Amino acid sequence: MQQCLKIYGKQKTRGSIKINGAKNSAVAILPASLLTGKTVKVDNLPGITDIHRLIEILSALGAKVSFRTETSLELNLNGVSSFSPPSELVNQLRASYYLMGSLLGRFKRVDIPMPGGCDLGPRPIDQHIKGFSALGAKVNLEKGFIKMRAKKLKGAHIYLDMVSVGATVNIMLAAVLAEGKTIIENAAKEPEIVDVANFLNAMGAKVRGAGTDVIKIQGVKELGSAEHIVIPDRIEAGTFMIAAAATGGEVLVKDIIPKHLDAIIAKLKEVGVSLEIGLDWVLVKSSGCLLPSDVKTFPYPGFPTDLQPHMMVLLTCSQGTSLITENIFERRFRHIDELKKMGARIKLEGRSAIIEGGYELTGAQLQAMDLRGGASFIIAALISKGETEIRGIEHIDRGYEKIEERFHSLGIKIERIS
Ligand code: EPZ
Repeated sequence: MQQCLKIYGKQKTRGSIKINGAKNSAVAILPASLLTGKTVKVDNLPGITDIHRLIEILSALGAKVSFRTETSLELNLNGVSSFSPPSELVNQLRASYYLMGSLLGRFKRVDIPMPGGCDLGPRPIDQHIKGFSALGAKVNLEKGFIKMRAKKLKGAHIYLDMVSVGATVNIMLAAVLAEGKTIIENAAKEPEIVDVANFLNAMGAKVRGAGTDVIKIQGVKELGSAEHIVIPDRIEAGTFMIAAAATGGEVLVKDIIPKHLDAIIAKLKEVGVSLEIGLDWVLVKSSGCLLPSDVKTFPYPGFPTDLQPHMMVLLTCSQGTSLITENIFERRFRHIDELKKMGARIKLEGRSAIIEGGYELTGAQLQAMDLRGGASFIIAALISKGETEIRGIEHIDRGYEKIEERFHSLGIKIERIS
């Protein structure tokens, strides 16, 4: 059923909002639970479709899954015996690639379709496969399927050709039950990777150095039970911080880890937004008229690519010319054409977008094509004149729980219509 969001323009976000658990941690932690045959409890899960899909996949593999509350899950992995998850579910989310590392680690074999997910340009998994092969897996790619077999997995010294969140996590998952020591060099340092490593160690794994560019893993025989609380979602937090900055609102963003938002906080200060930072909260106050800035996306702790579209919308409000350079994904600029429908003055030159700020946007009919671009259209709708309709909101639902209710709680008139 086609759904869309209808949003009225010229609104300011006001109030306070509690941030949910991190999608990019939760979508790795649930597959990671397959590495044990015992029971695990995971709290602070976000209620997003990627999580619902993963729960269906784990159940199809034989896990017993029960919700203790809306956001906390108990999983008994004792009954898991299958190593080939249902394709129709796997194809619905990119993070299904974490099933490769965990099923290979547990069963030494896996049959799974190539991962789906957002269209941000080519999204190869050559570094994941490089790691699995180094650990001793025979990898066959045939007709869109990945089949891996390993007599046993032996620790290896793996040097990633480029910083990759997915490859770093996936190799960690495959290595925790391998024989001997694995070293991952040039590892990604995202907070979500540290969260996954903490979960693995809670189950009895021996992972050291997560959060730095060298991760060392001492293989163990088996993993046990664990309880884990997923860290707050820094991208969701950044989304509401940028919305407050762009709309000239005042929002208290709660239940966050401010350290994870250093790059966003620095950028928002640079464009003239006032921020008060607490232990687990940040208060964002903005007059709405902002300064231009240059933004370059980089792996953590650099400015996150996942907030690049939102920053682009914000910079259309800045008086002057801004530049955004996307260094992570080849084609993460599909939101530009949609923003141009609203009158945004953005020019694309290679990996950089030049934004002529200070021209008011007008509401339009927009098509979301990926998760974060879709979310940035909500911010664009709020700062523009007139009404906006956003289609393709199933992309937004993949990463943001009940997005219209969240904005509604900040005083915004927004409705989901079928
Ligand atoms: C993760 O994607 C996140 N997804 C993305 O968030 C995030 O944008 C990205 O990391 C970067 O931070 C999840 O965690 C589920 P990468 P991932 O491997 O792992 C290239 C969102 O909106 N590369 O760090 O796919 C790749 O093409 C999503 O929540 C290879 O060439 O990203 C990209 O250009 C969007 N070969 C760059 O590296 C590989 O084997 C970084 O990708 C792997 C990656």
